[in-house]
Formats: sequence, structure tokens, C-alpha cells
Amino acid sequence: MNIILLGPPGAGKGTQAVRLAQDLVLPHIATGDLLRKNVKQGTQLGKEAKDYMDKGLLVPDELVAEMLRHRMSDSDVKKGFILDGYPRNLNQAKTLDVLLKDLNLEIDSVVYLDSSESVILQRLTGRLVCSGCGSNFHIKNMPPKKTGICDHCGGKLYQRTDDKEETVKKRLEVYKQETASLIKYYESKQKLRRLSADEDAQIVLKKIIQLAKEFDDSLKV
Ligand code: AP5
Repeated sequence: MNIILLGPPGAGKGTQAVRLAQDLVLPHIATGDLLRKNVKQGTQLGKEAKDYMDKGLLVPDELVAEMLRHRMSDSDVKKGFILDGYPRNLNQAKTLDVLLKDLNLEIDSVVYLDSSESVILQRLTGRLVCSGCGSNFHIKNMPPKKTGICDHCGGKLYQRTDDKEETVKKRLEVYKQETASLIKYYESKQKLRRLSADEDAQIVLKKIIQLAKEFDDSLKV
């Protein structure tokens, strides 16, 4: 099962990808997480990417492509994957097509998580992320049991630098300019499945699993 989660910032791609990866026992590959890891580790890629990320802009295609090729070559990807945050424009979609062909893999389904702008702003400006395990929380929607502390690993929660209101608005603008065109691209390949992601996270997850089952009725989830 090879799935792409597509959608605007804050639609819940990361939240759903983590749960889906657990349920389907598949690796979750998130380019945003991989980039933040590089920034944290101070790698050359991280140094080059940081400024773009802080401004809410896309990191140059060639940098992200190289990072993704590296990750997709790991052996765990052979059993399937959940891709979150890639592709983000037409050029990346074509790069991904070539990469998957080289690896003898194919996309089964592209799930488009549709969300309204007011929900996105509320979600992102209230998001909290664990500095230890990367789990997502939300001040109101999904508060941690103990203020500022991760339920799963006890790590400290922080606000992402790109979750300030102005930067979120910029990310939304970039999404509309660059990423929205991918809806048509995958529609033309008859891979796209749309669903509303404004509902409760558990309901959204159920809908995604239902879609996945339409592709593979042997799934036991
Ligand atoms: P990335 O990390 O991919 O950010 P994004 O796409 O903007 O998406 P987010 O992580 O902000 O949102 P999400 O949809 O995952 O929502 P989440 O589940 O966290 O990318 C960051 C940056 O890296 C980019 O701006 C760019 O610079 C760079 N980058 C990454 N990939 C790149 C690429 N391919 N090319 C170039 N540059 C790239 O949920 C958000 C909040 O809402 C959370 O608090 C969560 O708890 C809450 N929530 C989620 N679902 C629900 C629900 N159903 N109900 C209530 N609350 C919910």
C-alpha cells in the first residue's frame, strides 16, 4: 500500500499519517520532518533549508529530491509507505514518478485532505510539537495531559517557528500557487480521493482507512 497524503498546511496530514502508519504498519515519510531533523542536526542541507522554512517558502526542489531519494532507498519502504508533504509542485510530482519507477514502485492512492482556511489557522497557531518524539498536540483540540509536556515520551512541547500567523498565511499562499495544481495532476491519473478533513481526527482516520480498503480488501484494520 503506497499512499500520498495531500492537502494544505494544517489539514492534518502529519496527524493522520502517524496514525495510519501505526494501523497499517507502514513507514511514515514526511519531508517536513526530515528537513526539520536536518535543521536540528545542523547539516549542510539543514543550513540551506532553514531560511526558506522560516519564511514559509518551499525549499528548492533539488535539495528535497536528493533527501527523499536517500530515504526512499531504505529497505523498509519496499513493503509500502505513507508519503506526507511530497510532492508539493508539478516538478516534484514528476521527480517522484521517476524515482518510483527506478525503485519499481507505484502509487496506489493520493488522499486529498480538504480543509477550510479558518480551521487551518486555528489548528496551526495552536499546534504544539514534542521536542523529543515529534508528536503533535494542540492547545485546544488535542491538549496534552500535562501542560507543555508530551504524553508519549515526557519531552518538552514547543511551537514551530513557521506556525506564527503571518508565516502560516504565507504557507497557504505558497500552497495555492504551487501545490493545488497537483489535485488535477493526480485526478488525471485517477489516483485522487478527496475527503473533508475539518472533522474530528478519529473520523477522518476512519474515512482514510475506508478508502485504503477500497484498494486492498485484505487489509485487517
Ligand atoms: P511540513 O512540515 O510538511 O508542513 P505543512 O505541509 O505546511 O503541513 P503541516 O505539518 O503544517 O500540517 P499538517 O497537515 O501535517 O497538519 P498536522 O497534522 O500537523 O513542511 C514545513 C516546511 O518544510 C514547508 O513550509 C517547506 O518550507 C518545507 N518543505 C516540506 N516539504 C517540502 C517539499 N516537498 N518541498 C519543498 N519544501 C518542503 O495538524 C495541525 C494541527 O491541527 C495539530 O496541532 C493537530 O493536533 C491538529 N489537528 C490535526 N487534525 C485535526 C482534527 N481532525 N481535528 C482537530 N485538530 C486537528
